[in-house]
Amino acid sequence: MKQFTHIAETADYLEIQREKDLMIGFVPTMGALHEGHLALIKRSLQENDITVCSIFVNPIQFNNNNDLANYPRTLSQDLKMLESCGCDVVFFPDTAEMYPDGETISFGLNFGTLDKVLEGQFRPGHFNGVAIVVKKLFDIVQPTHAYFGKKDFQQLAIIKHMVYAMGIPVEIIPCETIREVDGLAMSSRNTRLSPAERKLASGIYQTLLNVREKIGKTPVPELKEWAVKKIEENDGFRVEYFEIVDQESLMPMEDWTSRDRAVALVAVFVGDVRLIDNIELFS
Ligand code: PAF
Repeated sequence: MKQFTHIAETADYLEIQREKDLMIGFVPTMGALHEGHLALIKRSLQENDITVCSIFVNPIQFNNNNDLANYPRTLSQDLKMLESCGCDVVFFPDTAEMYPDGETISFGLNFGTLDKVLEGQFRPGHFNGVAIVVKKLFDIVQPTHAYFGKKDFQQLAIIKHMVYAMGIPVEIIPCETIREVDGLAMSSRNTRLSPAERKLASGIYQTLLNVREKIGKTPVPELKEWAVKKIEENDGFRVEYFEIVDQESLMPMEDWTSRDRAVALVAVFVGDVRLIDNIELFS
């Protein structure tokens, strides 16, 4: 596995691969890798000639310094995991390499309502930071395919919009959320839960499954209220939002008229750990 920390050497190496007409699959990550990331890497390995993974904890997408400081960093373990699953290239720059001028510019791309709702309401600037780093990484790697998990449903929508609006020549491949045996969506943040919190956290997905059973039967506002109550029955759980939205515009639904486009999304504080999850209600 080739390991690079500098932009120029990564771009030069991949330029040579592109000249051989190879398909390049790309999995951007912030490290603290788990089976969810490995599923993206494995899919990319199957569908491309070369798979590139990036590991970079992107400071400008954190709107909370505590969250940035506490984000798990497990580089040497990550490198071992990537090596053993057959990843071809890993790029792990430091902050000065990615943002030499300490850049905090605004991206200037209009995401319409996509970045105003859900996460956008509670994490101002988050998607601007995500879009900036993903665009930079796409410029460096110039992948033919890029793999993103559906757990970050809104992030996926933002990236698809950016690629379309800017005409970036990459195919975005959405991948199913990988879950623990008890249903909890895999996340690097799960390692910060106490054993008791970890046990209760599976209730988030159970509630999403219950919500799916109730579509069309319970009115949307009532169902949202029910879901929030159900999750907050667990000690120390606080729901930041629970929304049922249109899968493309991400605008909240008031009734079930377009139920075949409905997705339920939730953000929950478990102690001071913020978890997100979602379920496609139409599938
Ligand atoms: O999903 C993530 O891990 C990050 O938001 C991403 C896409 C790697 C950008 O920093």
